[in-house]
Amino acid sequence: MRPHTCLYVAYGLSLGLGLLCLVFVISWNSYWRGGFSWDASAQQFNWHPVLMVSGLVVLYGNAAVVYRLPFTWGQRKFTWKLVHAGLMLLALVLSILGLCAVFDFHRGLQIPDLYSLHSWVGICTVVTFAFQWVLGLAGFLLPCSPWWFRIILKPFHVWLGKAILILSLASCISGLNEALLLTLNGAEPYSSLPVQAKFANFLGVLIVAFGIIVFGILSKTKWERPETDENAYPLLGENIS
Ligand code: HEM
Repeated sequence: MRPHTCLYVAYGLSLGLGLLCLVFVISWNSYWRGGFSWDASAQQFNWHPVLMVSGLVVLYGNAAVVYRLPFTWGQRKFTWKLVHAGLMLLALVLSILGLCAVFDFHRGLQIPDLYSLHSWVGICTVVTFAFQWVLGLAGFLLPCSPWWFRIILKPFHVWLGKAILILSLASCISGLNEALLLTLNGAEPYSSLPVQAKFANFLGVLIVAFGIIVFGILSKTKWERPETDENAYPLLGENIS
């Protein structure tokens, strides 16, 4: 087998699973939950799962693995830093919009904010992500950032990046579960496993599978971008990140 075949298989799998997550979350909210609008109604709430799954899971996961792709290794690292930071910024913006959707919906129906375990884990995820993005910008993209700071920051950045992925998965699973428990009742309780519940449970399984594949790619040291000579000289500004 060629040296990078496994990596590309894993990457292909993550792309496929990511796409399926998007198709499932959009279909679930369109077909069973009344579609989308932005007027503080239940249809505004439906943007919440869609934006969270697209931003904090699919886009975040893809942005996290860009340095691992061998075809980028021959190119300037700075270019890929910009791609990584840009995709992460987009993921952050989508997740903030996703929070606005649910906070607005709560305000419209006078539902209290931040009462559930899901909302506590969720808000910690987004705040940690915003903190990580600002620190990453300051440490790795600003030319005035000292090399010793980059050296200290890099392992912390990698660890926190994986932690945020785990937090995002926990937020999505708890959010899906809460939405199903809150809305499936009457003639079709969650415990009777109606088609909607099967569909949404499967979405949860897809989200976890996507996370496991991305986590696997990030954990394999053999698939890290090799340090080139250019990377070995921190004071030239391309490096240690
Ligand atoms: C990374 C993903 C997610 C994050 C960070 C997140 C974050 C949050 C936060 C902070 C709130 C509280 C809003 C408020 O108090 O006004 C909330 C509410 C809610 N979210 Fe999520 N969420 C995520 C994914 C999901 C998903 C996939 C669903 C599935 C439908 C979902 C369902 C809910 C529900 C039902 C509420 C309202 C009840 C409550 O406040 O717990 N969430 N979410």
